[in-house]
Amino acid sequence: MNHPLKKNFSGIIETICGCMYSGKTEELLRQLKRCEYAKQNYQVFKPHIDRRYSDTEVSTHDQMKVPAIVIEKPEEIYQNLKHNTQVVGIDEAQFFDNSIIEVAQKLANHGRRVIFAGLDTDWQGLPFGPMPHLLAISDIIRKQYAVCMVCGEAATKTQRLVKNTDDILVGSFDLYEARCREHFNPNLSKQTETKQEEMNLSPQL
Ligand code: ADP
Ligand code: TMP
Ligand code: MG
Repeated sequence: MNHPLKKNFSGIIETICGCMYSGKTEELLRQLKRCEYAKQNYQVFKPHIDRRYSDTEVSTHDQMKVPAIVIEKPEEIYQNLKHNTQVVGIDEAQFFDNSIIEVAQKLANHGRRVIFAGLDTDWQGLPFGPMPHLLAISDIIRKQYAVCMVCGEAATKTQRLVKNTDDILVGSFDLYEARCREHFNPNLSKQTETKQEEMNLSPQL
């Protein structure tokens, strides 16, 4: 069933967010499949930073794929946009600079449905790139949950498994796993962690 806001979703911004492995890209692909049933033309974009599974496609961790245009700057969406495109899907939105915000507003104001998928928080559990702003201007928000790899509860955090404090570190199972709040410990990625923290995933406050 369509969202009550708009019967055909035209002129709308949607954001699918959550931690890694929560099914953001799966949900994006599911929405695009529904567009096919509705005979709507769509195009998909992703940032050049993400070359994990494919150079020419957006891919889920389970290797479900859809063709995508790789761009460096959000403005390149305009250059690649076909006149008859009704739906614009954008994966890994957290990696774009803030100009993605104005691009999204313009696309929606001109009647396009814009669907973002992106990490709401980074390895520290802090807001990631333009995501807080995109969530604020979205008409529809979907928050996805993964499974905590320690206890099996719902996971909202992404645990980085290696010592590295860069904001951007592209990868998947070798570098990250999903965790619930209780078992999330960003200090594990910092060089300065104590031996106690290394052994204890949920240090006493
Ligand atoms: P995202 O884009 O949010 O990182 P994907 O849509 O690419 O996620 O992949 C989601 C898939 O990841 C799930 O359907 C599942 O098969 C797999 N997966 C791997 N680890 C987990 C986990 N800890 N919790 C849930 N799904 C997981
Ligand atoms: P995913 O949400 O589709 O799994 O992809 C998230 C990408 O973001 C993945 O390549 C790892 C990367 N990433 C960072 O660059 N920095 C971070 O702090 C986190 C948590 C992930
Ligand atoms: Mg993804």
